[in-house]
Amino acid sequence: MRKKIVAGNWKMNKVFSEAETLITEIADALDEVELINTEVVLCPPALYLEMATDVAYESNFKVGAQNVYPADSGAFTGEISPLMLKALNVSYCIIGHSERRKYFKESHDFLLQKIDALLKHDIRPIFCCGELLPERESNQHFAVVKKQVEESLFHLGVDAFSKVVVAYEPVWAIGTGVNASKEQAQEMHAYIRQLIAGKYDVETAENTTILYGGSCNGKNALELFSQPDVDGGLIGGASLKAEEFMQIVSSL
Ligand code: 13P
Repeated sequence: MRKKIVAGNWKMNKVFSEAETLITEIADALDEVELINTEVVLCPPALYLEMATDVAYESNFKVGAQNVYPADSGAFTGEISPLMLKALNVSYCIIGHSERRKYFKESHDFLLQKIDALLKHDIRPIFCCGELLPERESNQHFAVVKKQVEESLFHLGVDAFSKVVVAYEPVWAIGTGVNASKEQAQEMHAYIRQLIAGKYDVETAENTTILYGGSCNGKNALELFSQPDVDGGLIGGASLKAEEFMQIVSSL
């Protein structure tokens, strides 16, 4: 049975003391719940990864990074390597987020390199894909997502692919307060699963965790997560408050 995941993408938010408070609040709340076949992943800014993995060591969540550079070491000023993440016990890393595609012009090929670099060190990529509003309005959303998935993931062999988590994040839903409807989410998740089955096999597709992201919150999580192909969420704004984040976790 595929794993359910709720991951919090904190993006560029919180100073250290606030981050510490939020992590501690979530860790304490997680102590009170039983997670069955479910993983909670917190992705704070890189500066807080060490603090987060220290707390996670005695708690019930895993830690993810928001970015990585695809080399083990070298002259790449300002960047962080997968080797460094691994040494801190980071388990996941978000790749291909629309904000990185947009502001940092990350290409399909660069994302492919990041995926390979992470898998080499046994860090699970959370690979984001999703269309812009004009792409949906012109009925290109399936083609856009297909290309993103094919170009950055489908070079992988089946064993490597089985480590990947996919996150469908329609760009028009990110930070807008307008989430995809449960029907829109289900339709795209089923489509992605079908792509995976076509490239690999049905078992691999059935075992792939596909998360929904984009204005997912305490109010709509239950409805979105009730869809058969929605295996949890990648949460932005609503992951910055412990109570609401825990409400989302308990919607799984
Ligand atoms: P919001 O939940 O703030 O819309 O952000 C979603 C997201 O980008 C998670 O990666």
